[in-house]
Amino acid sequence: MNDRILIRPYVAGDADATIEIFLRAIREVSSKDYSIAQIEAWAKVADRGLWAERRISRPAWIAEIDGEPVGFSDLTGDGCLDMMFVHPEFQGCGVASRLLYRVEEEASKLGLKRIHTEASRTARPFFERKGFRVITEQIVEKRGQYLENFLMEKLYG
Ligand SMILES: CC(C)(COP(=O)(O)OP(=O)(O)OC[C@H]1O[C@@H](n2cnc3c(N)ncnc32)[C@H](O)[C@@H]1OP(=O)(O)O)[C@@H](O)C(=O)NCCC(=O)NCCS
Repeated sequence: MNDRILIRPYVAGDADATIEIFLRAIREVSSKDYSIAQIEAWAKVADRGLWAERRISRPAWIAEIDGEPVGFSDLTGDGCLDMMFVHPEFQGCGVASRLLYRVEEEASKLGLKRIHTEASRTARPFFERKGFRVITEQIVEKRGQYLENFLMEKLYG
């Protein structure tokens, strides 16, 4: 499977595909780690225009399998990995690993010594496997629901 995964830069036309992956990953994968009410609050994109603006405002990447988007990630200039979502049908195939590798290449190009992320309960084991450590547990508010996540970091050089 790994050799079928292609990583390419995000382009403006990817907004709808990334929304679809985001919503499905939360509803079908993260739903094992949070309550129904928490998932409903999290799995919402109220403003598709704002979503599209955010995605294009920073380096971001799409993972494709057979020409279809199956995951996406990004990196802000200050080393924040904001998004890491993989389509439910392609979990455990190495998609996030390939995306993270690309993110780390970018961080290296930018001379960043640290990447940080706010990982869900679902994503924490993935990031730990990749050398991130938990700095702190935190509770974030999303549309009236309170969700636990983990501020994590990985240091380089
Ligand atoms: C977390 C997520 C991005 C991982 O994507 P993925 O493509 O399935 O991850 P990979 O296949 O690249 O896995 C890489 C390694 O992490 C491990 N891993 C991934 N998810 C794991 C989990 N939930 N528990 C334990 N290990 C996990 C894999 O076993 C693999 O280990 P290996 O290198 O020994 O084979 C994906 O599960 C997802 O989209 N989750 C729902 C959305 C979400 O919560 N995103 C994060 C928001 S902060």
